[in-house]
Amino acid sequence: MALQASFLLPSALSAHKEGKASCVKESLFLGTPVFDHDKSVFNASLLRCKRMNASVSMRAESTLTATPAVTRTAPEGKKTLRKGNVVVTGASSGLGLATAKALAESGKWNVIMACRDFLKAEKAAKSAGMPKENYTIMHLDLASLDSVRQFVDTFKRSGMPLDVLVCNAAVYQPTASEPSYTANGFEMSVGVNHLGHFLLARELLDNLNASDYPSRRLIIVGSITGNTNTLAGNVPPKANLGDLRGLAAGLNGTSSSTMIDGGRFDGAKAYKDSKVCNMLMMQEFHRRYHEDFGITFASLYPGCIATTGLFREHIPLFRALFPPFQKYITKGYVSEEDAGRRLAQVVSDPSLTKSGVYWSWNKNSASFENQLSEEASDLEKARKVWELSEKLVGLA
Ligand SMILES: NC(=O)c1ccc[n+]([C@@H]2O[C@H](COP(=O)([O-])OP(=O)(O)OC[C@H]3O[C@@H](n4cnc5c(N)ncnc54)[C@H](OP(=O)(O)O)[C@@H]3O)[C@@H](O)[C@H]2O)c1
Repeated sequence: MALQASFLLPSALSAHKEGKASCVKESLFLGTPVFDHDKSVFNASLLRCKRMNASVSMRAESTLTATPAVTRTAPEGKKTLRKGNVVVTGASSGLGLATAKALAESGKWNVIMACRDFLKAEKAAKSAGMPKENYTIMHLDLASLDSVRQFVDTFKRSGMPLDVLVCNAAVYQPTASEPSYTANGFEMSVGVNHLGHFLLARELLDNLNASDYPSRRLIIVGSITGNTNTLAGNVPPKANLGDLRGLAAGLNGTSSSTMIDGGRFDGAKAYKDSKVCNMLMMQEFHRRYHEDFGITFASLYPGCIATTGLFREHIPLFRALFPPFQKYITKGYVSEEDAGRRLAQVVSDPSLTKSGVYWSWNKNSASFENQLSEEASDLEKARKVWELSEKLVGLA
């Protein structure tokens, strides 16, 4: 039995950092910007956006149309508050869905659920009881750079401002004996988790910068498993980007290795490596843009959410034992609901505006700034990963 211990996470392991915990409110940030937006233009943009997205079904369109205008004009003609617009990738299950639900239920956010399976997302939102006036679903397949560009185009044409972008979606293939590939020929885990998100975030940066929202944020979900300064991060295979030779050569499995470090394919390691890239990119965004743009760039480890679909490719015995193991042995378990609240907090809490931070939570669910591993905080590596990734996604 391969009780793949790569997720032996736990609060106990980061308990030594609890002294640094900064207590924050669980309540969501109720942003109060003013926004003077022409509702008819907005609705026309949505119509255009619907026409463009050929993959969107009739059912999908009814949801899109159901999204309310983001502004209202007070009777006396004064500008009024608007909801924040937050894009959450991979909001059709697990952490993304729980986060979307927490934000939509606050009534202060319009959540754009960026998902590869439109109907699954719609069903998930409905069964989670998300108020339909507070979410929109848009198609995004991070395994295709064309799809990422189409999403960006559709979003821009909608005319909606972008206040927060959450790069959450991920694939994890711990039992794969052979690599699989994105539409652009990149190994799947790094292609989806890192490269797809990298292109998305780069292309939407201008929109974040143009937003009038008081706190604009780009959040890239990280993981303890990519951090070798933790016990969980030390469970083999460990994350290691090496000298980036595989990434430089395109991760395509023909003229290059499928692994960033140039080694043999290992699905669990590919996931961990992709998470290191996520955490490095958050810091590189911060270094390049925080001062000039004032955008908050952050990453986080939400806790071990042992029940999510992330483990769907694991063997059945693992899936059965992992949640109780995390609950009762490591005590690192966090429910999807609680993890969603944590990520929603990073989206909206006014006390979490610090940029360049990797957030974690202690066992009392208080957030604190955690330390990244040596590799995940290597700024020179971050710069190189950025430059190589730019070439792979066609930005350089
Ligand atoms: N679970 C944990 O213990 C844990 C711990 C630390 C960090 N995380 C992080 O939390 C995030 C969410 O994971 P989760 O645990 O919630 O897993 P999950 O339930 O499997 O959710 C992953 C989401 O990503 C989407 N996705 C996968 N491939 C995609 C693609 N090509 N294009 C667009 N969307 C795609 C999935 O869509 P479908 O619904 O269509 O499959 C799903 O909505 C990930 O970044 C993960 O690394 C999780």
